[in-house]
Amino acid sequence: MRKQIAAANWKMNLTLQQGAQLLDDIIAKPHDLKEDQLAVFAVPFPYLAMAQQKIEGKKNVFVAAQNCYSKKSGAYTGEVSVEMLQSLGIQYVVLGHSERREYFNESNQLLADKVNICLEYNITPIFCCGEPLSIREANTQNEFVAKQLEESLYHLSAEQIQKIVIAYEPIWAIGTGKTATSAQAQEMHAALRAQLATKYGQEVADNISILYGGSVKAANAKEIFSQPDVDGGLVGGASLIVDEFVAIINALK
Ligand code: G3P
Repeated sequence: MRKQIAAANWKMNLTLQQGAQLLDDIIAKPHDLKEDQLAVFAVPFPYLAMAQQKIEGKKNVFVAAQNCYSKKSGAYTGEVSVEMLQSLGIQYVVLGHSERREYFNESNQLLADKVNICLEYNITPIFCCGEPLSIREANTQNEFVAKQLEESLYHLSAEQIQKIVIAYEPIWAIGTGKTATSAQAQEMHAALRAQLATKYGQEVADNISILYGGSVKAANAKEIFSQPDVDGGLVGGASLIVDEFVAIINALK
């Protein structure tokens, strides 16, 4: 049974004190995570140790990094390795977020390298994909996103691909309030799962969690998450608000 995941992406927001308070407040609120449901908090690098300490012992609650480097160690000033993350007890990493692709020129090949080193250290990638508005307007989004998966993930074995969480985030819906309709989300998720099934077989494809990201709010989460191929969400702005994110966690099916 694939996992249903409510993942928070704090991006570059909050002070240490604000982040610690936010986590305390969210964790204190009732959110009954079932066996196949997870809450994941992707926090800035400086807050990983604090967050990991706060969620210690909390069932089905995890901390993620928002990035990692593609090399094991060495003269890469300012970078953070998966080995460092593993030594902190971190089990998830968001990779390929559209903001990293855009602002830091992360290519599909670089992301393939990052996926590989994460799997080498048993850290689960939350692999982001999604099209810009121009591609959506040209109605070539399926081909665009398929290429992202082919170039970054399709070198993986059937066993390895099942360790990946995919997050479809249409760029035109990120931070804009223009959420994709649940039909648009389901259409893309079903297309991705069909593509995965063609490559790896239906049983493997059915085992992979595919999250939706892009203006998920408490008000729309239930409808979006109710779609058969949507397995939760990767949430930016709303994850910084206690009641919003708790409601999104509780919207998991
Ligand atoms: O990674 C999630 C993020 O890109 C979505 O942001 O603010 O539209 O929920 P937001």
